[in-house]
Amino acid sequence: MRSAMYNPRARMLRSIADVDAVAPAERAASPDAAAPRPPLKWAGGKRWQIPHLERYWRPHAHRRLVEPFCGGLAVALGLKPAAALLNDVNPHLINFYQRLKRGLVLSERMVNAKSPYYSAREEFNRLLAEGRGDTKRGAELFYYLNRTGYNGLCRFNRRGEFNVPFGRYKTINYFTTKDFRPYVEIFRHWRFTNTDFDDVPLDPDDFVYADPPYDVEFTHYSTGGFSWDDQVRTARWLAKHPGPVVLSNQATPKIRTLYDSLGYTLHVLHAPRRISCTGDRTPAAEVLATRNLPA
Ligand SMILES: C[S@@+](CC[C@H](N)C(=O)[O-])C[C@H]1O[C@@H](n2cnc3c(N)ncnc32)[C@H](O)[C@@H]1O
Repeated sequence: MRSAMYNPRARMLRSIADVDAVAPAERAASPDAAAPRPPLKWAGGKRWQIPHLERYWRPHAHRRLVEPFCGGLAVALGLKPAAALLNDVNPHLINFYQRLKRGLVLSERMVNAKSPYYSAREEFNRLLAEGRGDTKRGAELFYYLNRTGYNGLCRFNRRGEFNVPFGRYKTINYFTTKDFRPYVEIFRHWRFTNTDFDDVPLDPDDFVYADPPYDVEFTHYSTGGFSWDDQVRTARWLAKHPGPVVLSNQATPKIRTLYDSLGYTLHVLHAPRRISCTGDRTPAAEVLATRNLPA
């Protein structure tokens, strides 16, 4: 997963500053133009899938891209649709994107050290307890905790408190990413919603890219998890969509059987590497299940 593949050196070379380095017209015209980096570290990021997705997306690039599970935005930022509807059940993530859309500049100096991290975590939890997680301050703290905490995890205890430990990175490239205003232009025609996936209103013409949490292992994106029933609900919901669909998942036998039984066309890919909670880095097979697209 992307979060644990975090490489501070690589990120320093291609930060949000790259957004400024590429003229908007060039970005829109060429799928190869440097895509802006996702602003957060997010488990399960699919930046590596972009070259595979381009061939499905390009002939449909006039359509709206809908991502019911947008997560870290690696796919939307990689495909650069003119219009998009991006949804995630995680309210902190969506609050952060909505703040970026309005032009967020972080005022405070962010420090990669244990004590400020735990103070920020306490402040974030106080905001949550007061029902003020969806404020600008909530978004600032969420960004800092995401970049400074362990593996970019977003995990809460039973009382609903954010409980991710300090990440112990040698360096973190916050400073060039403090000014998020380049995202204002990128997000101009993108809409962000925070709901369960099957409340996402689909138009018949939408191009849907759906990347639900994996069938197995890591399901702590948000309180509640993602059950097998949710996998079935996702696959059945999208089987009814008349427009193009790409559904991504880990290629477990159960998932393959489910998608196959609903008439999806299956393409198996190998993720560059898989990072599990146990530190296992063996490559994992992933499936792209498509509908209403060429085989
Ligand atoms: C594998 S991640 C998506 C990663 C994303 N494609 C990327 O490249 O960064 C799955 C996302 O689904 C979200 N999610 C989990 N349950 C959901 C639900 N019931 N409805 C909508 N989103 C959900 C999680 O919060 C998580 O961000």
